[in-house]
Amino acid sequence: MIAVLSLLLTLAGGIAPPHDDILIADFEGQTYGAWKTTGTAFGSAPAHGTLPGQMAVTGYKGNGLVNSFNGGDASVGTLTSPPFKIERKHIRFLIGGGKDLEKTCMNLLVEDRIVRKATGNNDKPGGSEALEPAYWEVGELIGKTAVIQIVDNATGGWGHINVDEIVMSDSKPAGMKNDVTREIVLEHKYLHLPVKTGGAKRNMSVLIDGHEERKFEIELADGKPDWWAFMDITPFRGRKATLKVDRLPEDSTALNAIDQSNEIKGADTLYRERLRPQFHFSPRRGWNNDPNGLVYYKGEYHLFFQHNPYGWNWGNMHWGHAVSPDLVHWKELPEALYPDAHGTMFSGSAIVDTDNTAGFQTGTEKPLVSIFTAAGTPFTQGLAYSNDKGRTWTKYPNNPVLPHIVGENRDPKVFWYAPDKKWVMALYLDKSDFALFSSKDLKAWEKMSDIALPGTTECPEFFEIPIEGDKKNTRWVFYGGNGGYLVGKFDGKKFTPEAEPHSLHSGNCWYASQTYNNIPQKDGRRILVPWGTMATPDMPFNQMMGIPVELTLHPTEEGLRLFATPIRELNTLRTHSHNIPATTLKPNENPLSNIQAELIDLSIEVSPDGAEEIGLNLRGIAIRYDVKAQELSCLNQKAKLKPIEGKIRLRVLVDRTSVDIFGNGGHLYMPVGVIVPQENHSLEVYVKGGSAQIHALNVHELKSAWSHGER
Ligand code: FRU
Repeated sequence: MIAVLSLLLTLAGGIAPPHDDILIADFEGQTYGAWKTTGTAFGSAPAHGTLPGQMAVTGYKGNGLVNSFNGGDASVGTLTSPPFKIERKHIRFLIGGGKDLEKTCMNLLVEDRIVRKATGNNDKPGGSEALEPAYWEVGELIGKTAVIQIVDNATGGWGHINVDEIVMSDSKPAGMKNDVTREIVLEHKYLHLPVKTGGAKRNMSVLIDGHEERKFEIELADGKPDWWAFMDITPFRGRKATLKVDRLPEDSTALNAIDQSNEIKGADTLYRERLRPQFHFSPRRGWNNDPNGLVYYKGEYHLFFQHNPYGWNWGNMHWGHAVSPDLVHWKELPEALYPDAHGTMFSGSAIVDTDNTAGFQTGTEKPLVSIFTAAGTPFTQGLAYSNDKGRTWTKYPNNPVLPHIVGENRDPKVFWYAPDKKWVMALYLDKSDFALFSSKDLKAWEKMSDIALPGTTECPEFFEIPIEGDKKNTRWVFYGGNGGYLVGKFDGKKFTPEAEPHSLHSGNCWYASQTYNNIPQKDGRRILVPWGTMATPDMPFNQMMGIPVELTLHPTEEGLRLFATPIRELNTLRTHSHNIPATTLKPNENPLSNIQAELIDLSIEVSPDGAEEIGLNLRGIAIRYDVKAQELSCLNQKAKLKPIEGKIRLRVLVDRTSVDIFGNGGHLYMPVGVIVPQENHSLEVYVKGGSAQIHALNVHELKSAWSHGER
């Protein structure tokens, strides 16, 4: 048998055993060695991974690689190998970056002629910086002398190329396959998708009877995932589905790893993860940004949010959904809005259509209507409605209700304007331009006026608010994404600001906030929820919401100002309270030295008297008050805080990834994102340079909002 086989091999021309691979370059050295550069794009030496301003580069081998992002996308140049002899059938390499065969490419030259070319495949909207294996077949060139030239001649988006591990080999790398599919019968609640954050981004879809029901991008893991995303498949239970991925390595096991069950993976540690905020909302899995559609209806606060269910980073915008009886304990529900033919689901608002003005009501419940941006080409505004308290949503078939106007117009905030019995929409247009529209039925919109808010873009809010101490007197507030706000008057058509813009907060962890619609009159609060822009590395989720705060408008020395205070419902999380008696605090004393706590709600009222500095050290996070400068600081954040009748008041809430600071009843509002040292539970209040009079000092230990939370 063996003899026959070897005879056959000999007859076939002698299939020799493969030779060892020959390394052309692995770019692990301190320099490019004999490789020569021109221009600046390749720097003077191999890069070590990601360069400043670049998305995380993955998929390279070892530490070094060729990365022409040196100087950003705008830089150009070439990198050329010394001549070498082709001695194997294949040249294999790892490659990423722009997909431009002329401008961001790798060329093989023989006798000064380009004989092979290759590019990266990262160049797509939301693409990743993952290098992928590729190869040239060069059997016919064996014996020839060749040169490899890596070119970056592109200056725009994806104007760079990444290369690593160039090897001559008789074996091919596992190639890439396009449109890889797997059939599966959907029998459970959740489909589990393995994710490798920073891995190559794939376009994936779920087809039922040939119809594409779900479509998204995902960094599908081969091998051990960082975490598992889940897809709610209850709408398709019992159906046969095709899972389809646009491109995968031939030997990929990713599609086979996908499985299903009735619980999400990691349910046993859910809400107990190391960096899981304990009284700030965050989604079970994936990325969140803006709160959307904040609306109260029949005992429930709805929180919709910009959600990427399948990635740790921004992308695949859906409207995630959670409900709460008290703005503190949240229950996450299935996604409310999925991307559709008009685009992905960007930010917007929701209302209760009490008078059924849009005609969507089918039963006894009042319809909830969400007004969202469909981020397609171009951006438009559309409607979806729910007749079952937000549990299921139907898109209005005649979307869009507001066609494209300019740029990437987006983020409609709609509310009922009772005096004219009409809906009013604030919309972000472009640059720092916003506009107001009105409608009788949510379907036909008419432009009323323009608003300019210098220094601010995106996510407008617009509401009426009484002046504290003079409640019959009101003003209107208009603000944008970063919290820059104008106070003024509104005549039903036009907003007229009365003063320069101010900032609502002085933190580093606050963006794209919204306030609740439909708060019952007897409550009457203006409740705001911001996006808490704080990364949670190595977690199966990323970012959070800020704590809900109540806004009030106060006359101050500088004019009318918005104050923010934590909603009173947060007090229900208090477990142990420590009330420290009024005392004169001297340097080197710490009345909190006996207290250890993880989740904290601390209040202090103090007269600085002779002290130069008063400070708090909460679990290693320092908050300092400079008495002379009348300035409060925490990490890099600073804000003025003037004593009132000689006293300053602070309230500080410490969670796992944030410290929320409120000064003088909310005049100062400083949400600070920081990873609070896990093991440090010590608390300190101190003075320097003299003593201070503490009038009141309370430390409330808090319990997790998730401890009674349902999964
Ligand atoms: C603000 C924002 C909005 C947009 C959304 C997309 O953070 O950029 O303008 O609608 O996020 O996720």
